[in-house]
Amino acid sequence: MTTHLHITSWVLAFILFGLALMFYKQGKNKPAKILQMILRLDYLLILYSGGDLIMYYFQQSFMLGEVIVKGLAGIWVIAAMEMIAGKYSKGKPVMGVWVQFAIAVLIVLVLGFGRLPFGLHFMS
Ligand code: HEM
Repeated sequence: MTTHLHITSWVLAFILFGLALMFYKQGKNKPAKILQMILRLDYLLILYSGGDLIMYYFQQSFMLGEVIVKGLAGIWVIAAMEMIAGKYSKGKPVMGVWVQFAIAVLIVLVLGFGRLPFGLHFMS
């Protein structure tokens, strides 16, 4: 259940993020701002579901190092999205933050799908 919420909320975040950037690029700042507000609410769902998933690992003292890195990388993805959207809205350069975003997403996907076992297959 929590895994589904987690995946749904970060997939939704990527969609809202992409749409907000598209609107900023077209100079439509108002819809972009509204999407960014919804995106910020969605971060709460990601954090809540991610925090709940982390508890399974802590309760069993299982793979703590990897799950902590997974959580921090997840927060880093969120921070990078915030920075990119903020810079887009002001027309500032974003290349460096895109690199950060790509690295953080890679870590999160490798650890989440590749390494940590309590995902969809385990407790859906
Ligand atoms: C946009 C940001 C995030 C993305 C893209 C993301 C992505 C993922 C993915 C792909 C999985 C694996 C799901 C599965 O195996 O079925 C996962 C699981 C998990 N995530 Fe996130 N996540 C993000 C944010 C966070 C945050 C902020 C936290 C911590 C507060 C967190 C903690 C966890 C935990 C503990 C798991 C369970 C690991 C497992 O057993 O697979 N995530 N996440």
